[in-house]
Amino acid sequence: MDSIHIRGGNRLTGDIPISGAKNAALPLMTAALLTDETVKFHNMPQLTDVQTLGKLLNVLGAELEPEIAGHSYTLSITTPDIVSTTAPYEIVSRIRASFWVLGPLLARCGKARVSLPGGCAIGARPVDLYIKGLQKMGAQIDLVDGYVVAAAPDGLKGALIRSPVVSVGATHTLLMAATLAEGETILENAAREPEVTDVANCLVSMGAKIDGIGTSTLRIQGVDRLHGTTHHVVADRIEAGTYAIAAAMTGGDVTLKNADASTFEAALVAMRAAGVEVESRQGEVRVARNGTRLQATDVVTQVFPGFPTDLQAQFMALMTTAEGESEITETIFENRFMHVQELARFGADISLHGDKALVHGVEKLKGAPVMASDLRASAALIIAGLAAEGETVINRVYHLDRGFERIEEKLGACGAEIWREKAS
Ligand code: EPZ
Repeated sequence: MDSIHIRGGNRLTGDIPISGAKNAALPLMTAALLTDETVKFHNMPQLTDVQTLGKLLNVLGAELEPEIAGHSYTLSITTPDIVSTTAPYEIVSRIRASFWVLGPLLARCGKARVSLPGGCAIGARPVDLYIKGLQKMGAQIDLVDGYVVAAAPDGLKGALIRSPVVSVGATHTLLMAATLAEGETILENAAREPEVTDVANCLVSMGAKIDGIGTSTLRIQGVDRLHGTTHHVVADRIEAGTYAIAAAMTGGDVTLKNADASTFEAALVAMRAAGVEVESRQGEVRVARNGTRLQATDVVTQVFPGFPTDLQAQFMALMTTAEGESEITETIFENRFMHVQELARFGADISLHGDKALVHGVEKLKGAPVMASDLRASAALIIAGLAAEGETVINRVYHLDRGFERIEEKLGACGAEIWREKAS
């Protein structure tokens, strides 16, 4: 297995281009199944998760046409016919977003058989909200041999669905299903993460009728069919936040290009509170820290527009060398502290108390061999390694390749000493 090596201590300076958002690209790809016409996505990120989901779409009958020119990636998806309504375990267990084909398959074909999902090991991650929502829309759902087997032979019907918990994936699934249902569906307490908004905007450009985009109540009037479109994938706020934190951690000065500060404002607010200089301009964000030590800052993860759980590990890495003690509370996933024991290998002083981590800032980190446990945790280890004295080796980097495009190249261009060693 490949490993990433970092010789820490260099300040990051320069520009980092931000890619299209993984967590928008994946549900957008599943939305393309809703029509037999071509849906073309610009600004796609080049990631293994995108390839894995592409393989599933192929199995279901989609034809994928990638156009790659340098770092620009455009993907056209055309699904003249759905040739299979089964999403097999072998793929769905590897990437959680592939479970989201459930909504489009059921809406377009009246049936679907989708393996229960996998994805990063950060909690139990049940699918009850998807199932209850689709049942409200008239689907009959059974769990058979690890598969969700859903049928709506007479089509889905509009319904009022109030979710007790805000779920990104359930919102994507029910929103897509509702676009082709008969009548009106109202999704209350819907997720309003920027990626959900991006998907909703794309669906509208495919002919869907959706009101309330960007709010927690979505009203969808079902239509008979959707058509093709061209869509530009929104910038990746988690990638942007990760590099912003990396810049701050190394006392650097970095401008994030094609970033939208409004999509990760809560993280920028926390960074400012810690003493980081943040300047947002049209389409870019500059992050700098010159000489001064960071101040301990508390954060609590929340649904959007709160502090994102997908930046919790990275922010914790930042706090490891801050002055004082910071309290980091994780409210979204019950088991998202796997990075704590790995950060300890760098000499970080962190104790866990239920859903809280107390980070007692130390003067410096020291490089160490560490193991990536999930996607965002891997990014936290890179951030720690960039600031640590000496060499860090990060193993199991396939997690990183799932969600960060060309990470060594982007960091290397800003002065980091980082390289990948291929497994022999
Ligand atoms: C999405 O996961 C993202 N994944 C996650 O990013 C992100 O951490 C998460 O949203 C929260 O923002 C993608 O977009 C591919 P949820 P998702 O359903 O949709 C509970 C990354 O690193 N819940 O919003 O799976 C659930 O257990 C990944 O890129 C139920 O109880 O998350 C959790 O506590 C990791 N029942 C909470 O809701 C359900 O049926 C939020 O989960 C569904 C969810």
